[in-house]
Amino acid sequence: METTLQELGITAGDVILEISYLVSAILFVIGLKLMSHPESAKKGNLWAAVGMGLAMVTTLFLHRGVSGQTISLINGIVIVSAIIFGGIIGTVIARRIKMTAMPQLVSFFNATGGAASALVALMEYSNPDNSSAMVTLLGLIIGAIAFSGSMIAYGKLDGKVGDIFAKWTTYFNIFMLVLITALTVYMLAFDHDMATQTMLSYVLLGLALIYGIMFVMPIGGADMPVVISLLNSLTGIAAAMAGFIYSNQAMILGGIFVGSAGAILTLLMCKAMNRSLLNVIIGAFGGGGAAADKDQGTIKEISLSDASVLLSYSQKVVIVPGYGLAVAQAQYATNDLVKLLEDKGVEVKFAIHPVAGRMPGHMNVLLAEADVPYTKLVEMDDINPDMPNTDVTIVVGANDVVNPAALDDPSSPIYGMPIINAHESKNIIVMKRGMGKGYAGIENFLFFNDKTRMLFGNAKDSIQALVNEIKQL
Ligand code: TAP
Repeated sequence: METTLQELGITAGDVILEISYLVSAILFVIGLKLMSHPESAKKGNLWAAVGMGLAMVTTLFLHRGVSGQTISLINGIVIVSAIIFGGIIGTVIARRIKMTAMPQLVSFFNATGGAASALVALMEYSNPDNSSAMVTLLGLIIGAIAFSGSMIAYGKLDGKVGDIFAKWTTYFNIFMLVLITALTVYMLAFDHDMATQTMLSYVLLGLALIYGIMFVMPIGGADMPVVISLLNSLTGIAAAMAGFIYSNQAMILGGIFVGSAGAILTLLMCKAMNRSLLNVIIGAFGGGGAAADKDQGTIKEISLSDASVLLSYSQKVVIVPGYGLAVAQAQYATNDLVKLLEDKGVEVKFAIHPVAGRMPGHMNVLLAEADVPYTKLVEMDDINPDMPNTDVTIVVGANDVVNPAALDDPSSPIYGMPIINAHESKNIIVMKRGMGKGYAGIENFLFFNDKTRMLFGNAKDSIQALVNEIKQL
């Protein structure tokens, strides 16, 4: 056996390297599985990180280039320095970032992944030893689109870039796609000297970067999470392409995992909003709707003492958390309220909308932080049938996810998006600071509903005041 491997030019190091990639892939799968539940998500992240660390270390020491040599000392020092430098920056940013700015951070990190894959492809396209031109060009295009698209998504979520929507953007984007495809075919179908080949690869990079910008630019409002997840999927595919260039199993598998997880999440979110991916990509979103012109009716407020009596003498209470709960950091106060009501024999549950907040699982993470038991968090589809039997629904900093226009106003931009049916419960208390709109920028007639009463103020202050009031009953 030993002789055969030697005859094939395979060293013990090569075998260990391949086995380490297999172990890494298994660790990625276990990590992904654990990440699918909030309780085990942290552990899942750790398992996947160990897998990635293992692949990096074994590649550094055991990978052999075309010359048959492992990485030189100088290159090793450069790579390790880059890892340490990047690691320090990443750790500092991730520790400092506020929970509410997490989507921006994800977008920014995703952009760096796309850029890395595009740069690998750009360098390797001019490498005479590279025999996979098509994969390299695809990696270059997809990586560049993921990079520039994610940077624009980052800018939009951070309020630095506004929405540009005009009908011409759709035609411009179709034109760009045709141009990129034509140039790629031209580069692959004909032989070019090295200088022309390099020049064309830079032109292709430029076109893909422009397409990435213009593809994300018209998409706005509530469609952003879908776009980020789509861009995440593209980064995974670009990384897999880079893995093909180097015949690196860990990179290919890691890229495929990210690519497919992103694609699945994209489709699930589209389903949660009842829209097609094409509609998300070419449709402008936000503002307008017939609600803007309708007679709004009147708003009724509720006093703290009335709210505390209503809640204390209820049997079933449902809390619908939204983005405002995250902004106010009201999760701990909310948990206090839940415990207090339960001591009084009230059954309390949380209704979790799949796109409440600003990132997938936002509410689950926040409530987990305050030690709210997972058994109390009920998904939208499971809690909706029970809403008519609910005595009081407390809407804490949520808006779009309880907007009935999604059900009954065909002209509304959120029409067709499934919502938590708060309007079906017997009483509704809405906690928010004023009459500010939600992410989709539209009016919410739930606030004008006969059964609704508003408790204005910062969510954390209102809930703390409510807790104090209930304690005095
Ligand atoms: P939103 O519709 O964005 O509404 C949040 C509400 O919270 C606002 O109307 C605001 O009203 C109130 N608020 C803000 N700060 C507050 C504070 N300190 N105290 C009390 N209230 C406060 O939130 P939602 O219902 O969670 O819906 C999420 C929206 O974001 C959806 O349109 C969704 O599609 C989109 N989105 C979701 C994600 C994911 S994946 N979750 C990512 C990006 C975008 P006031 O200003 O009057 O207080």
